[in-house]
Order: sequence, then C-alpha cells, then structure tokens
Amino acid sequence: MMPRKSSFLVLHCLLISLANGRNISEVTEVITSILNLINNSRSIDIKTCWLFDEQLELMKALNKKYILAKVEKRQEIFYDNSHRNWLLIDANCEEELEFLTKLSNIEFSKINIIAFINDTNLQKLQFSINSEFFYLLENLTAIKVKQAYRPSNGYSLVIENFGTWYKDQRIFIDHRQIKITSMRRRNFNLLQLNASLVTTNNFSKFNLDNYHDTHIDTITKLNYKLTNLVIEWLNASAGYSFVDTWGYKNNKTNEWNGMIGELINNKADIGASPLFLTSDRIDVIDYLICTSQTRSKFVFRSPKLSFTENVFVLPFHEDVWICLIISPFIAALFLYFSLFTEWKSNIGIIKPSLNDSFFTLYCAITQQGIVQVPKAYGSRLIMYISFTAFMFLYASYSANIVALLQSPSNKIQTLADLLNSRLEFGVDDTVFNHFYFKHADENVRREIYLNKIRRKDGGENFYNMSEGIGRVRDGHFAFHMEVGVGYKFVSEIFQEDEKCGLQEIQYLQVIDPFYAVRKKSPYKEHFKIGLLRLQEHGLQARENARFYTKKPKCHSGNSNFVSVGMIDTRPAFLIFGYGLGCAMTLMLIEKAYYRYFGEISFKKCVKKRP
Ligand SMILES: *[C@@H]1O[C@H](CO)[C@@H](O)[C@H](O)[C@H]1NC(C)=O
Ligand SMILES: *[C@@H]1O[C@H](CO)[C@@H](O)[C@H](O)[C@H]1NC(C)=O
Ligand SMILES: *[C@@H]1O[C@H](CO)[C@@H](O)[C@H](O)[C@H]1NC(C)=O
Ligand SMILES: *[C@@H]1O[C@H](CO)[C@@H](O)[C@H](O)[C@H]1NC(C)=O
Ligand SMILES: *[C@@H]1O[C@H](CO)[C@@H](O)[C@H](O)[C@H]1NC(C)=O
Ligand SMILES: *[C@@H]1O[C@H](CO)[C@@H](O)[C@H](O)[C@H]1NC(C)=O
Ligand SMILES: *[C@@H]1O[C@H](CO)[C@@H](O)[C@H](O)[C@H]1NC(C)=O
Ligand SMILES: *[C@@H]1O[C@H](CO)[C@@H](O)[C@H](O)[C@H]1NC(C)=O
Ligand SMILES: *[C@@H]1O[C@H](CO)[C@@H](O)[C@H](O)[C@H]1NC(C)=O
Repeated sequence: MMPRKSSFLVLHCLLISLANGRNISEVTEVITSILNLINNSRSIDIKTCWLFDEQLELMKALNKKYILAKVEKRQEIFYDNSHRNWLLIDANCEEELEFLTKLSNIEFSKINIIAFINDTNLQKLQFSINSEFFYLLENLTAIKVKQAYRPSNGYSLVIENFGTWYKDQRIFIDHRQIKITSMRRRNFNLLQLNASLVTTNNFSKFNLDNYHDTHIDTITKLNYKLTNLVIEWLNASAGYSFVDTWGYKNNKTNEWNGMIGELINNKADIGASPLFLTSDRIDVIDYLICTSQTRSKFVFRSPKLSFTENVFVLPFHEDVWICLIISPFIAALFLYFSLFTEWKSNIGIIKPSLNDSFFTLYCAITQQGIVQVPKAYGSRLIMYISFTAFMFLYASYSANIVALLQSPSNKIQTLADLLNSRLEFGVDDTVFNHFYFKHADENVRREIYLNKIRRKDGGENFYNMSEGIGRVRDGHFAFHMEVGVGYKFVSEIFQEDEKCGLQEIQYLQVIDPFYAVRKKSPYKEHFKIGLLRLQEHGLQARENARFYTKKPKCHSGNSNFVSVGMIDTRPAFLIFGYGLGCAMTLMLIEKAYYRYFGEISFKKCVKKRP
C-alpha cells in the first residue's frame, strides 16, 4: 500500500480504483455514520497522502452527505480551544504518522480524530482519558470502528468497540452501551488522582475525616468530603497534597504560588479547595461548579434608630412641624383679639398683651397649665380647642417616640453607609481576607481598609472568629466573616433576642468560590459530571448543611426589653442644657443690667403700671 503523491499516469489509474486500498464510498458511509452518532459537527478536515483525485472524490462524496470537508496541509497544531474539530487522518502515511505521534495528550483531548492506523503505531500515541480517537479496521465483510484512550500518561491503552459497518447490508451498528464518553470511561481502575487542599491550620489535615472544628478551614473540609465521593464514584484513588494558600500571582516573576501553582506544575490534577473566580486566574485554571454557597460579609447588629437619627424629630413629618410652629401664632392672634374685645367691654380686667397670649398657647402645646383663665366664652372656646388639639398631637408624639426608641435603624444599607456610620470594624483573620483587604482598589473599600481596618498604631483589626463575634454581640461593631461559619458562633453565644436585627453587607466583589481543575485537564468532564451528580442527589446540600449554619431565626416577642440609654435621650438632655444655659445667661445679663442701670429702669417699669 502506498506511495506518495505521484503524477505517473499509470500509477494514477491503478490507484484511482484502489484509493490507497480503500473503497471511498464505504469510507464516506462510515465517516457519516460516526459524525451522525456524535453529531456535534458537520465538517471535517482531511489529512492524508492520497492522490489529489482520491481526496477530491472523498470530498465530493462527503459533500453529498452534507458534510463540509477540506484538505488540511499544515503540519503544526492548528486547532483552538473553542470546539472540537474533526480530522480524518491516514497514519499509514509518514508525514501524518509523525503529526499524530507529536500530539500531546492535551491536544488529543481537543481534536476528534478518525484514523487509519495499524496496531504498532497505535501504541505510540499519547491519548488522554477524554480523547475521541476512532480508528477503522476493515475485513472483507465489514468495517469495524474502535476507540482508544489511556487513563493517564504511561498507562496501557484501553480499546472500546464503537460500532461496525456491514458492507452487504450497508448499515452501521452502534456497539456503545453508554453514549456519553466520560460516563462510559468512568472506571479509573484505582488510578491515583492527585488533589491539592488548602489548609491554613496545622491541625486541619488530621480533622478531615471527622467533623471536628468545622469552623477552621471549613471550605477545604467540606470539599474534601465531596471530592472523596466523586473519586469513589470514578473508582479512582486520591492522593492529597497540602498547601497553605489558594494561589496568587507574584507580579514580578509571574509565578503562581499555593494551590494554583501545584495545578500549573502538574503536581495536582484537581484543586479540591474551591476558589474565587478572578480574571487573572481564568487563564490558568478551569472552573467547574460552585459546591458551597457560603459568602463572606460584614455582619453587625443593626444599631438602634437613636444611634443614627434624632428620634425626637422623627415622629412628625416636616409639614406637621411647620404647622405646629405656625398654628400657635394664629391661635394666639385670635386669643389676643378675643381678650382685647373682652377688656374693652369690661374695664375690670387686665389689659391683654400679645406676648401673654402666645405664652398661653405655648403652655397648651407643652401640656402645661395656664396662669390666667379668660372669662368670655369666645376666649375660652379658643383655649379648649387649642388644648384638645394639642393633646392629640402630644399623645401621638409620645406613642411614636416609644416605638422609635425600640426600633432598629435601617439607615445602613450599603458599604458607604457602613463606612460613614459610627460602627467599629473587624475582619476575620484568614489568608484571603488579608489579601483582599490589602489589595482593595475601589474607593469605598480602600477607605474602609485605610480608615477602619488599619489602626493608628500601625496594627490591623483582624480578630479570630470567637472574638469578632463577641464584639458583634456587644454592639456597634461590624465583623467581616464567612457567614456560614460565623453564624455557628452566633447561634451558640447570642441570646435569643440578640439574634434579631442582624444585618449583612457584602464587601468582596467576587461570586461564590468555584471548584477548579487544571486548565484543559482530561478529568474535567468526569469531575463536572461527578460534582453535578452530588448536587442532584442532595449529597452536596447535606454536607453544606453539616458545615454551614444558616442565619439564625429571630424569635422576637419573648422578653424583648430594651432599656433606653444616654445616647437615645441625648437630644432631650441637650434641650434641657441649652434651656438652662440660656436662662442662666439671661439671668446674668439681667443681674448686670440691674447693678448698673437697675434702679432707673425698674422704677420706670413700676411707674408705668396703673
Ligand atoms: C465500493 O463499495 C460499494 C458497495 O459497498 C460497491 O458498490 C462499489 O463497487 C465499490 N467500489 C469499488 C471501487 O470497489
Ligand atoms: C443527534 O441528532 C439526532 C437527530 O439527528 C438527535 O435526535 C439527537 O438527540 C442528537 N444527539 C445529540 C447528542 O445531540
Ligand atoms: C505499521 O506501520 C508501520 C509504518 O507506518 C510499519 O513500520 C509497521 O511494520 C506496521 N505494523 C504492522 C503490524 O503492520
Ligand atoms: C469481519 O468482521 C465482522 C464483524 O466483526 C465479523 O462478523 C466477520 O466474521 C469478519 N469477517 C471476516 C471474513 O473476517
Ligand atoms: C475498581 O477498580 C479495581 C481495580 O482495577 C477493580 O478490581 C474493581 O472491580 C473496580 N470496581 C468497580 C466497581 O468497577
Ligand atoms: C499522582 O501523583 C503520583 C505520585 O506523585 C503519580 O505517580 C501519579 O501519576 C499522579 N497521578 C496523576 C493522575 O498524574
Ligand atoms: C505550623 O507549622 C509550621 C511549620 O511546620 C510552624 O512554623 C508553625 O508554628 C505551626 N503553627 C502552629 C499553630 O502550630
Ligand atoms: C506589583 O506589586 C507591587 C507591590 O507588591 C505594586 O506596587 C505594583 O503596582 C504591582 N504591579 C503590578 C503591575 O500589578
Ligand atoms: C481569639 O483571640 C483572643 C484574643 O486575641 C484569644 O484570647 C483567644 O484565645 C482566641 N481564640 C481562639 C480560638 O484562638
């Protein structure tokens, strides 16, 4: 069989019928059948050393079956990552065999190949576990299609029967038991898969198999369990290595440390500690699925309303306050008019003054008594009405104050509110918190780090979980923590009514952590399916429920006694203080005035009186 491209007429004629020993219409049928069964593509590249006419004939035949075929001449790897291309290759040709042997296992997982190849050459190729490599074996009555793969580099080939095309009946019989390739190849025969785990505590590696200290390295312990389940499902075995960080890029050497470093350097296949999705990491690892819905957030007990607002002005709307200021003036005018007419008709009583009328109405507002009771019905009516109206206002005002003193503030809704509030800040002392807070570049977040986290003395407000939660309980303290872990402490040490009014504000601009594998890892599909199955079967939810505590429910109404503190009553004391201050100042001025000009002015006053 066969020669290279030759222009010898004789040889040409001979080969046209043989087509390198193959019947082109049969080959076309087989290719069409394979593509139809895998049906993700209707185009194929042809890489053979066949004669031009043969290749043309094959292309024509494929086109009749609506398959776009083109001849590929380039030697180097010419495929991108976007989708799998199909390639028909004849490995009995030297150049093409060389092309195949040069392919690495990662490249094999990118190209779907249909090949003519003999057994010795087959053994030389570096298949991966997810390679779609079909090769055709022909006898007189049938063409068999087989698939070959290796569980890992250096392992012996595994051959699968894909199907057979029978020449007489011209039909293709599919021999696959399971159609999905990665499901069919899920028995790893105890192949060791290497997983990398991030532990920030020296004792974590001893507590992986039990549920001790679930608040330390929670995400690692949880995903260790999930990884083991997938490994078991794959009939593989696991080799774990431990690192102390997830992996950050050193911006000088461009090298990654931690878990990502292990994945890149082939020391690990699986990153068993999920990690955040960041743009620079997308280039080096493949994210699979989100296995744990924990989030890191600022948690704080919402401060009392009086902490953020002056509760003494809140009960009334602005308009009501304006009316409250205007109405006594109007009422005082009426009262003065009424008293004045009373005085005109009845000389026996004192002449009313506008000043006194207003003072009387002011007494009505503040629910005090009055010194001078008018006699005429008109004036009395004005007094009655004013007192009644102001009584209602007074009642609603005080009732409202009582409610407001007990209600939590909802003023703090965003990170900026939090920054501007008078709360103190703390952050859970973990590796990634240190990283993200130090490297925050957005304005508010940067401010938070500079003004709230970093202390004046150069230290930083990083606390361990129990201390942080304790401070949250004492109030006026916002603690940044992994909520699923922190709420375990909250439910343990908080009183029932203290669990009410817990508020969360997201700080990190990242979505949930994702489980990851090495970029283009051949095991990607297996792990994706395995982890999704854990999700569908509820095992993931079970592990999450065991490791993460939900936000504690607030059972209010028990003994919800709130005592009013100094800070709540501050405005009241301020009014008192200002009042006293004014009175004292006035008194001093009066005293001074009296000492120097007192006699004259006082006498004048006395003289004026009738
Ligand atoms: C190819 O096979 C088909 C049937 O499978 C047959 O009809 C045809 O004659 C064969 N062509 C050659 C050149 O052998
Ligand atoms: C392949 O195509 C057939 C119809 O041509 C369709 O019924 C089948 O679901 C497809 N299979 C896949 C895996 O897409
Ligand atoms: C397979 O083909 C190669 C050349 O490509 C040849 O050297 C070798 O002997 C062949 N092996 C068999 C078993 O036919
Ligand atoms: C050719 O292969 C088919 C399918 O495996 C088999 O049934 C048949 O007996 C084989 N024919 C010859 C002549 O070997
Ligand atoms: C797992 O692999 C081992 C080693 O090859 C094998 O003995 C065992 O039968 C396999 N288990 C399953 C369930 O396939
Ligand atoms: C895992 O590591 C062991 C020892 O380092 C190595 O023999 C094995 O091939 C690795 N597994 C994979 C799938 O690379
Ligand atoms: C953890 O181990 C490292 C090195 O093995 C050691 O330096 C460190 O002190 C240990 N930490 C604790 C808390 O034991
Ligand atoms: C590299 O890191 C240094 C400090 O660690 C920083 O000042 C610099 O901006 C970084 N460069 C880049 C390109 O990120
Ligand atoms: C947390 O920190 C406090 C004070 O820094 C310390 O007393 C306490 O032992 C620490 N708790 C744990 C569990 O490390």
